[in-house]
Amino acid sequence: MSLLIVGGTGTLGRQVVLQALTKGYQVRCLVRNLRKATFLKEWGAELVYGDLTSPETIPPCLRGITAVIDASTSRPYDLSTIKQVDWDGKIALVEACKMANIQRFIFCSALNLEQFSNIPLMEMKQGIEIKLKESKIPYTIFRLSGFYQGLIEQYAIPILEDLPIWITNENTSVSYMDTQDIAKFCLRSLQLPKTTNKTFLLGGPKGWVSSEIIKLCEQLGGQSAQIKQIPLSILKISSNFLGFFEWGQNISDRLAFIEILNVENNFSKSTIDLYKIFKIDPVEIVKLDDYFLEYFIRLLKRLRDINFEDVQKQKNLII
Ligand SMILES: NC(=O)c1ccc[n+]([C@@H]2O[C@H](COP(=O)([O-])OP(=O)(O)OC[C@H]3O[C@@H](n4cnc5c(N)ncnc54)[C@H](OP(=O)(O)O)[C@@H]3O)[C@@H](O)[C@H]2O)c1
Repeated sequence: MSLLIVGGTGTLGRQVVLQALTKGYQVRCLVRNLRKATFLKEWGAELVYGDLTSPETIPPCLRGITAVIDASTSRPYDLSTIKQVDWDGKIALVEACKMANIQRFIFCSALNLEQFSNIPLMEMKQGIEIKLKESKIPYTIFRLSGFYQGLIEQYAIPILEDLPIWITNENTSVSYMDTQDIAKFCLRSLQLPKTTNKTFLLGGPKGWVSSEIIKLCEQLGGQSAQIKQIPLSILKISSNFLGFFEWGQNISDRLAFIEILNVENNFSKSTIDLYKIFKIDPVEIVKLDDYFLEYFIRLLKRLRDINFEDVQKQKNLII
């Protein structure tokens, strides 16, 4: 089976590429910047130029392809292109896939779309889900929760750099997940016909509230956090909450993102059922504690090495 991966340079996409190559798939990546994607070529993927904002570049990328995994989205620093990428571009992609008789389309969507259709990206994702179903291309949709990878910038780094961390006054629980595990689900679905034409809500095994993540980072980093709270009522009337969706932009966007991905409704139970469908043992799933532990160990080792090099340099100067 030959795969086209869209968004292969992204946080999730790169894990999908790596695992697909490891599993022996023929992997092609649609990329808009060939130089930036060199690492994917070094891993063994074929690179082909394509840009979702230029629909005419899409059909040639699909020649000889059996299945498409779409893990692309407009970059948070590039919000002006959100409609061009996440709406016009995705419609063009789905139409091109239909013309090319693609046998499977895996679409990465987001949790709780219906409750937040006032947020443009959520509305677009919901619309693309509908277009995909209407296209009659055999599909699998994953509605994803937050990624562990985003938590480093949100919690670990501010604690280490003694910067404030903003949280809401609600105990919002999010079942974050490692992108390596999400990639596992995406690829497994290609081998499981019963996952065709289905939508799955995918999250990690445990819901985490901000205060728990902060405590974990404080313990591992050996430093206290500066916590600032914003009442949820204020967040909800802020224009950013209504206008944007992606974290990393600013505080209210990030908090809005957490509110969107909250898991009030027995999510963990449905997640465990999901693991059964995909024949994935929950023990294999990386836990947030372990993810952070590995991060802090690597970071502290690096800091020790840098410190060691500095001492050596100073010694050399003295000599
Ligand atoms: N991050 C989360 O916590 C989260 C939560 C729920 C759902 N999701 C969804 O999961 C998916 C993956 O998210 P992510 O965080 O891994 O995304 P990401 O790191 O922001 O990566 C986005 C990818 O899309 C590509 N892209 C952007 N504009 C493009 C264009 N015009 N043409 C072609 N490719 C383009 C980027 O390429 P460049 O490298 O060239 O920019 C990059 O490869 C997305 O659908 C996202 O909405 C994410």
